[in-house]
Amino acid sequence: MNQTDSVSERTITKVWSAKLNRISSGHSNSLILEPGHWAEYDPFLFLAEDWFQRGSFDVHPHRGIETVTYVMEGKLEHYDNKTGDKDELLPGDAQWMTAGRGVIHKEDPAEGETVHSLQLWVNLPSTEKMTDPRYQNLRSANMPVRTEDGVSVVIFSGSSGGVQSNTQNIVPVTMVDIQLQPGASLKQDLPGSYNGFFFVLQGEGTFGREKTKGVERQVLWLGASEAGQPSEVSVTAVSHLRVLLYAGEPVREPVAARGPFVMNTEEQIWQAYQDYSNGKFV
Ligand code: FE2
Repeated sequence: MNQTDSVSERTITKVWSAKLNRISSGHSNSLILEPGHWAEYDPFLFLAEDWFQRGSFDVHPHRGIETVTYVMEGKLEHYDNKTGDKDELLPGDAQWMTAGRGVIHKEDPAEGETVHSLQLWVNLPSTEKMTDPRYQNLRSANMPVRTEDGVSVVIFSGSSGGVQSNTQNIVPVTMVDIQLQPGASLKQDLPGSYNGFFFVLQGEGTFGREKTKGVERQVLWLGASEAGQPSEVSVTAVSHLRVLLYAGEPVREPVAARGPFVMNTEEQIWQAYQDYSNGKFV
């Protein structure tokens, strides 16, 4: 029997909940993907959920990564040294920032607002770590939506059921925000090489081939599939379900990470600090 055209159904290999940390009176966070699991989470470096007020983060640099900030609640102001402009992200908006060789930026809630956001760090391969910085503001109203009976999938990156987003990727990433009515099901297609996970924002559902249960605030990690082959993962809502799926092509390179910089070697990290303090990020 020829298996080359078969679509493998992903399982869920791990389920967990992140604990909530109080950083200050105006800032709490949760490390949904903790840093340090470089090979396991590849190409993702970490995912942080934050609830924060103005002044929680100061101006800071990045190099060697992309950050994907998704605003759940509140108005988030963004300033960077490239455009010199202030952008605003509203609930449902995302910003895909390619730090590449270097950006200096600040992410600050509007006065009096508490922002609830998710920030994912995506690794860049050695050949692209020093690429030109780029910002893509992904407004919820402009994102393509896959709609089926009881199913709505907002596609921030990659594709779902043949509906494709225009978001430019260096490392290919699928990011979709899925809403299902109770009893509705979705099959999300993914390249077999991708690593990925669900993060449940609201409700309860079953996930993957074994129909693993997942509830609000849980992470469900996808089992591996075969590179070069198509795969899919199924989701069924028990109650009204809102869940994010992030999946991406692994980079498979050594990771040297310190503070806001993620490179391949310690020497490159040292160089990043040197370049930043010598004003080479502007
Ligand atoms: Fe940042």
